[in-house]
Order: sequence, then structure tokens, then C-alpha cells
Amino acid sequence: MNPKFNKYHISLLLLMASLFSSHRVSSAIDTISTTQILKDGETIISNGGRFELGFFSPGNSRNQYVGLWYKTVTVRTVIWVANREIPLTNTSGLLKVIEPGLLVLQDEANVTIWSTHTPNFTARTPVAQLLDSGNFVVKDANDDNSDNFIWESFNYPTDTLLPGMKLGWNFVTNLEVYLSSWKSNDDPAPGDYTYHCDPSGYPQNVLRKGGVEQYRTGPWNGLRFSGIPNLRKNPIFSFGVVINKNEVYYHYELLNNSVISRFTLSPSGVAQRITWIDRTQGWVVYLTSPTDNCDNYRLCGVYGSCDIANSPVCGCLNKFLPKDPEGWDRADWSDGCVRRKPLNCSNGDAFLKYSGIKLPDTQHSWYNESMTLKECKEICSRNCSCMAYSNLDISKGGNGCLLWFDDLVDIKELSAEGQDIYVRMASSELEGRGLIVSCGETVNSMSYTIHNEDLELPLFDLSTISKATDNFSINNKLGEGGFGPVYKGLLEDGREIAVKRLSRTSLQGANEFKNEVICIAKLQHRNLVKLLGCCIQEEENMLVYEYMTNKSLDLILFDPIKSTQLDWPKRFHIIIGIARGLMYLHQDSRLRIIHRDLKVSNILLDSDMNPKISDFGLARTFGGNETGANTSRVVGTYGYMSPEYAIDGQYSVKSDVFSFGVIVLEIVSGRRNRGFTHRDHHLNLLGHAWILYREGRSLELIESFLGNSCYLSEVLRSIHVGLLCVQQHPEDRPSMSSVVLMLGNEGVLPQAKQPGFFTGRDLMNDETSVSSNVATSINEMSITLLEGR
Ligand SMILES: *[C@@H]1O[C@H](CO)[C@@H](O)[C@H](O)[C@H]1NC(C)=O
Ligand SMILES: *[C@@H]1O[C@H](CO)[C@@H](O)[C@H](O)[C@H]1NC(C)=O
Ligand SMILES: *[C@@H]1O[C@H](CO)[C@@H](O)[C@H](O)[C@H]1NC(C)=O
Ligand SMILES: *[C@@H]1O[C@H](CO)[C@@H](O)[C@H](O)[C@H]1NC(C)=O
Ligand SMILES: *[C@@H]1O[C@H](CO)[C@@H](O)[C@H](O)[C@H]1NC(C)=O
Ligand SMILES: *[C@@H]1O[C@H](CO)[C@@H](O)[C@H](O)[C@H]1NC(C)=O
Ligand SMILES: *[C@@H]1O[C@H](CO)[C@@H](O)[C@H](O)[C@H]1NC(C)=O
Ligand SMILES: *[C@@H]1O[C@H](CO)[C@@H](O)[C@H](O)[C@H]1NC(C)=O
Ligand SMILES: *[C@@H]1O[C@H](CO)[C@@H](O)[C@H](O)[C@H]1NC(C)=O
Ligand SMILES: *[C@@H]1O[C@H](CO)[C@@H](O)[C@H](O)[C@H]1NC(C)=O
Ligand SMILES: *[C@@H]1O[C@H](CO)[C@@H](O)[C@H](O)[C@H]1NC(C)=O
Repeated sequence: MNPKFNKYHISLLLLMASLFSSHRVSSAIDTISTTQILKDGETIISNGGRFELGFFSPGNSRNQYVGLWYKTVTVRTVIWVANREIPLTNTSGLLKVIEPGLLVLQDEANVTIWSTHTPNFTARTPVAQLLDSGNFVVKDANDDNSDNFIWESFNYPTDTLLPGMKLGWNFVTNLEVYLSSWKSNDDPAPGDYTYHCDPSGYPQNVLRKGGVEQYRTGPWNGLRFSGIPNLRKNPIFSFGVVINKNEVYYHYELLNNSVISRFTLSPSGVAQRITWIDRTQGWVVYLTSPTDNCDNYRLCGVYGSCDIANSPVCGCLNKFLPKDPEGWDRADWSDGCVRRKPLNCSNGDAFLKYSGIKLPDTQHSWYNESMTLKECKEICSRNCSCMAYSNLDISKGGNGCLLWFDDLVDIKELSAEGQDIYVRMASSELEGRGLIVSCGETVNSMSYTIHNEDLELPLFDLSTISKATDNFSINNKLGEGGFGPVYKGLLEDGREIAVKRLSRTSLQGANEFKNEVICIAKLQHRNLVKLLGCCIQEEENMLVYEYMTNKSLDLILFDPIKSTQLDWPKRFHIIIGIARGLMYLHQDSRLRIIHRDLKVSNILLDSDMNPKISDFGLARTFGGNETGANTSRVVGTYGYMSPEYAIDGQYSVKSDVFSFGVIVLEIVSGRRNRGFTHRDHHLNLLGHAWILYREGRSLELIESFLGNSCYLSEVLRSIHVGLLCVQQHPEDRPSMSSVVLMLGNEGVLPQAKQPGFFTGRDLMNDETSVSSNVATSINEMSITLLEGR
């Protein structure tokens, strides 16, 4: 203190201090009254010490603003700005509260630079108070009822949403609370981006740039926003959307008051949840949106679907085609997709389920919170402009009804985290199910196809599979299938599984993988191997099957020692089982399926030696009365392929019958058709069997140790049926239902004609003899499809 000051001076100073103290704001208080002024350099602090309000200059700017920041955060973080558009250029600003309840920012000449709006109602003694929630309010000094705030900063946020704020609409006051980004870190003036809770249709949060939609979170589904799977129950904050006739808003609350976390819109248009870490004295980003290219609003156009795991990312929803195919190929997806079969509402449309998606834009939607999904479907069916429906709320197993009255836009693939939607389709798209050539059809996005088919196939987690197979240990490898290795695994619940892992490099495999999932997931029969689920994660595509204890039939049948355990009743049981499984594929399942690669190594055996057909990678479905097709790409395995298929690419259920016949003869004889040799002739197993049959010596075909069994008529009947199945002409071969009857019956069988491919030395083993127009397919086949297991 200046030594010149005497007692008199000091007491005068004290007097002056007492006179003027009512005009100055001490830093220990949280309110400003009409008789007080907050000067540049002074601050007020909320009651609990969490927030501080005063003048500041952002970044490199020298402008002065009135703002609000965290008191306890060492990196000054401004969460609200009063005069964001009207900066002061010097430090002469004064913040005051004036009658009838206005907050004003004035310069030293008492010229108002910034002010709140004239309030709806007035207070006798208005004061401004900084609450510990971070809400800066103007109220009557004697009224603490938060409903009676004359003004509050929570209604006029800048770029930050604090706990307790309501982002959205109050329809009573017609006030929207939304975030708007700063222009830059140096300038808090409103930038390009705004973030809203949009109540039109059904509520969803949206990010706009210059008023134009850039990104949306997807509709609220009771648990989270449909498009933000990462928004989960967590230890930091709870969140929700409130929808009633007066208000629609998004809000969050902190679960632990000592945690500092905020939701902020950055100048570059990124909405982030950021949390303060005391230990490192820094902010960390907890959640960010938008997250990837697929979050770009409408990127793939109407009925397009964006999958970030794909290249290119855009595809059409299943059963839709690009509206402008040329544009589509140039990555101009803006025109989107159209139904490949137009709707005909008067004819009655159907609805197809698509799963695993971020629900489309709900701007033009309608909802009812109490309807069931069934009622929802009825309402949608009745109104021709209703394009889709889904559950509104998935939190309690699914309820409520959401309807779309416009073309669907902004769909994103989210796999297991996504939702179901039912989209209006021409009824012919769903007729007979099998007519939809989903197996074998090339669709540009694999995972998308799988999720969008009407399947209920469990998805396994990669970590679960890794654990079950001991990290795909070589010790657990069962063999190498057509498109990758197969591993044995043990799930934690004790179930044994077989995991087919698509090799990453196998492009061919990708289609076959998809094919197999789609085909087999729809099939249920005790003679078909059961698919338990699949795993599509981190570039891995895997199929999970029930494990077959006794592995594949070839390992026993062609093993000199093990084969002795296969007495005739077991062999016949296997033959019958295969026949029944195949009959189911051909005509009893909802689909008509041609397996195309039936062989002994694709017959698996369970612990009771029940046969199960596996490996549907090459299968093809057919609809209605369609029974076959022509292909330029012959696939299958030598030795089991019918002549019309191997040579002309024509395949039908009768090509499977041929393969079945080969299998029967192999089971009876214990010899492989391919590679069969005999000292007397150059015929293969089929030719050999036929010659013996013609000469009435069929019993010579059978494994010697079976010869004494007392089932000889059954053995002979099986050989006869086998030969009927491998006849040269497809029309001569019996159907699988006849085969099942013939095997079980004592009735008279027709004479078998000459088999196809009965000489071992024809094109099967000699590629040069193949005529040129099919040579390519044969080459392809030998490269990609001969399986070694
Ligand atoms: C401070 O700036 C305000 C406007 O920003 C102006 O009205 C006032 O005259 C300035 N005062 C000084 C001392 O420069
Ligand atoms: C500004 O207003 C205050 C009262 O709020 C008054 O005391 C002061 O004289 C005024 N100053 C000028 C320059 O008018
Ligand atoms: C504002 O005033 C209008 C009538 O002028 C009244 O209907 C409304 O309830 C008032 N709002 C508040 C929040 O008091
Ligand atoms: C709240 O967070 C603090 C700091 O992170 C922690 O020490 C405390 O245990 C938490 N309290 C509860 C109830 O979780
Ligand atoms: C729609 O279906 C009705 C009834 O089957 C038929 O008469 C009409 O021609 C169809 N319209 C179109 C555009 O296909
Ligand atoms: C919603 O559906 C329920 C049940 O069908 C019905 O009672 C109710 O009136 C519907 N509400 C609206 C707003 O349509
Ligand atoms: C179908 O729904 C739309 C939108 O709700 C409505 O405008 C239209 O009148 C409805 N049409 C019929 C036939 O109910
Ligand atoms: C499996 O691999 C992961 C990551 O490579 C490793 O952390 C883990 O210890 C491995 N587990 C076993 C059983 O080898
Ligand atoms: C088939 O599996 C059962 C049960 O694991 C086993 O007892 C049997 O020996 C196996 N049969 C053959 C032929 O391997
Ligand atoms: C099935 O056959 C019927 C008559 O034989 C024919 O009218 C119909 O078009 C066929 N359907 C298919 C899908 O081939
Ligand atoms: C396949 O092609 C042959 C000969 O070109 C033809 O006779 C047959 O009808 C075709 N089959 C199918 C199912 O298209």
C-alpha cells in the first residue's frame, strides 16, 4: 500500500467502497441485479462453482464477448456466447440487467450493443443469475420457479448442448432450440452448420449446412437413434427423446455430477460428445457423427442403400435397380433406384422385409405409438401411397407403428445393429418365393443381400468364433472346402460347431458364400446339414454349422479299415437319407433347389451315422414349375456330373439325380467312380456296374465283405436304382420321389439303359477332346471347383 496513505485516506476509501460496492460485482457471487454492472475483467460464478461468466476473446481474436465457460476446466472452454454476432472491439463493455427484465451489453457511453428480447412478462425486481447447470437466467429476484424465468440461455444455445437443455421444439411458445456452429475457433458468430431435433413426421436429429440437410441420426427408436448404433447405455450420460403434443426434444443428463461432458457442434459441422479427463487435463471425443461417407444425406438416392464396407458404397435395395444405370456406373447415384417390378396397388401389393438398416428419412412419415406391427401393416396396405412400415419402438420387443408416405431415402447398412423395415413390393415379387432367383443371382453387395433377405439367421460375433476355434488354430482345422478352410469349434454353451471361413482372396467364394447362406438358411430337413448362423465382420465371412462327429462319408467309405464298420444296414440307411434330403431339396422345400455338387465328400455323418447333405455353395433355386436352366459356367465335380450338364451346360433336378446314382454305386461298391480301374476293361465305375448288371452279375460289384449279408435283394435293388439314376438321357432318369419309393418298395423296376459317361477315358479325363465352345467352362471348372477335402 502506498505509504503516503494516512488513516483519513483509508477511512475515505472504505466509505467509497461501501458506496460503490452495490455497483460492482464481486467474483464470489452468481447474480447481477439492476443496480450492478459486470465490467470486462470481472466474472460471476455459479453457486456450486461449476460455471463462470464474463468477458473473453476467442482464439486469436482481439474482439471481446460475453461468454460462459467451465470454471474447473483448465483449458478455457466457452459453451455459450451472448453477443456472438456483435463483438466489442475494446474492453469497455458493461453487462447490465435493466427493467423490465432485459439483459443488455453496453459501451461506456451506455449505448446498447447487444440485448435480449423484450420479455413476454415483466418482473418487479429482475436479476440475472448463473445457475450451476450452466443456465444463465433472468428472473424475479424472489421467484425461484424455473417456469417463470423471464429469459434463459438454455433457450438460446450457441454450439453446445448441456445436460438438461431441450434440443427441439416447444409448440406452445413456438420456440425452437437448436445448435449453431461457430464460424471458426476465432469467431463465435453463427457458422454454416446447425443441428436440430426435427419433429416433422417422426422426430430425428438432423445436421444442416446453410439450411440444407447434410446428415440425420435416423428416427428415435426407443433405445437410440436408428442410425447411431454406438449410442448405447453408458456410465456417463443418459439420453432420450420426449414427444408429446406440447414439445418434441432430445436431451441428455449426466449420471455422475463430477463428470464433465458436453455435446458440441464444431465449426466444420461435426457433432461430438466430448468428455473432460481430469488426469490428462484434456478433452476426449466420446462419440462423433456423422461418422462415415454413408452418413452423407441421400448419397445413394431413393431406394439406394449405403454400405461402407463395400466399394462402391452405394447399391440398390434388393429387388430394385438403378434408375440411370450409366450414371450409376459413374458413381452418380443421385437418381437412386426403382423397383424392378412396378407396383400395382389395385392388384394388391405385398411387403418385403429388409433387415439391418438405418431407417430411411422420416420427414414424410406418420406414426402411432400404440399400434401393433400387424395393424401397422394393415394400415399401410390400405393406403397406396404408403411405401413402407416398421416398428416405432424396439425397446420392449417392438411396438408402435411408423409409416412412410414417400420414396425411401438415406438408408444405410448397419448389420446386426440395424432395424427391420417392410417395403411395398409388387405382389409378384413374393409369389412362390422360389421364383426369386436369390441363389446364384449376383448382387453387388453381399452382406446387404444376406441381411435383406427374409431370413432369421443368427449372427455370430467374430470374437465368439475366434474363441471357439482357438483363434482358428491349425489343430482345429477339419479340411479345406471349395472356398476356404473349415474349422472345428466349441462354443461356450458346449455346442460343437464347424466353421467355414471364406478366404479373403476368393472372389468366386464371395458369391458362393452368399449363395449358401441364402439357400441353406431357408432349409430345414434332418438330412441336410444345419446352418446355425453366420459371421460377417472385419472382412471375415463365415458360416457356422452344427458339427458332424463322423465327418464326411468319403473318409469312411474309401478307407480300407474304417469301411468295414459300414455294414449293409448302415449303407442303406445312408442311401435312403441322402435320397430323402435330395427329394426335399427338389420339391418339398419352399424353394426348388438344385444342388449341383452332390458327391460323397459332401455327405456328412452325425454321431448316429445319419447322412446330411452339405455344401450348398453351388446350389441354384427355381420357382414354380421351372425345373432347369442353361448355364455358360459349368460348375461341379468330375465324376459326378451328368453328361448334358458337363457338355452342354444344361442342368436340372435330373443332373442331381445323376450325381445321386453315382453316389449309390460308390456306396455299394466302396470304390470311387473317378479313378476307377479294372483289369478287364477301360470303363469307369458306372460302365463296370452296367456291364455286370446286363450280365446278371451285379453282386460282383459289392464290397466283398458285404457279400454274405442277408440283405441281397436290397443290395441288388440299390444297384438297379443307382443305374436308373445315371442313365444317359435326363428324361429316362427317375425323379427323387420315385427313387425314394423304389428304394423302399418291393415293386418291379424298369430296365436300366446305358449310363452316361460310362467310359472312363472320355472327356472326363481328357480335356483335349472337349469341343471348343465348352472348353472354357471346363477349364474354369478344373481351376476353381475340383475340391480336395
Ligand atoms: C469501444 O467500442 C465500442 C463499440 O464496440 C465503441 O462504441 C466505443 O466508443 C469504444 N470505446 C473506446 C474507448 O474505444
Ligand atoms: C450510464 O448509466 C449509469 C446508470 O446505469 C449512469 O450512472 C451513468 O452516468 C451513465 N453514463 C453515461 C455516460 O451516461
Ligand atoms: C407469452 O405471452 C402470450 C400472450 O401474449 C401468452 O399466451 C404466453 O403464455 C406467454 N408465454 C409465457 C412463457 O408466459
Ligand atoms: C463419479 O466420478 C468420479 C470421478 O470420475 C468418481 O471418482 C466417482 O466414483 C463417480 N461416482 C459414482 C457414483 O460413480
Ligand atoms: C393392375 O392390376 C389390375 C388387376 O389385375 C390390372 O387390371 C391392371 O391392368 C394392372 N395395371 C398395371 C399398370 O399393370
Ligand atoms: C393409434 O392406434 C390405436 C390402436 O389402433 C387407436 O386406438 C388410436 O386411436 C390411434 N391413434 C391415432 C392418433 O391414430
Ligand atoms: C393415404 O395417406 C396419406 C398421408 O397420410 C393421406 O394424405 C391420404 O389421404 C391417404 N389416402 C387414403 C386413400 O387413405
Ligand atoms: C488369439 O488372438 C488374440 C489376438 O491376436 C490374442 O490376444 C489371444 O491371446 C489369442 N488367443 C489364443 C487362445 O491364442
Ligand atoms: C461315429 O461317431 C460315433 C460317436 O462319436 C463313434 O462312436 C463311431 O465310432 C463313429 N463311427 C465311425 C465309423 O467313425
Ligand atoms: C407353369 O405351368 C403353367 C401351365 O403348365 C404355365 O401357365 C405357367 O406359366 C408356368 N409357370 C412358370 C413359372 O413357368
Ligand atoms: C437350354 O438350351 C437348349 C438348347 O439350346 C434348349 O432346347 C432348352 O430349352 C434350354 N433349356 C432351358 C431351361 O432354357
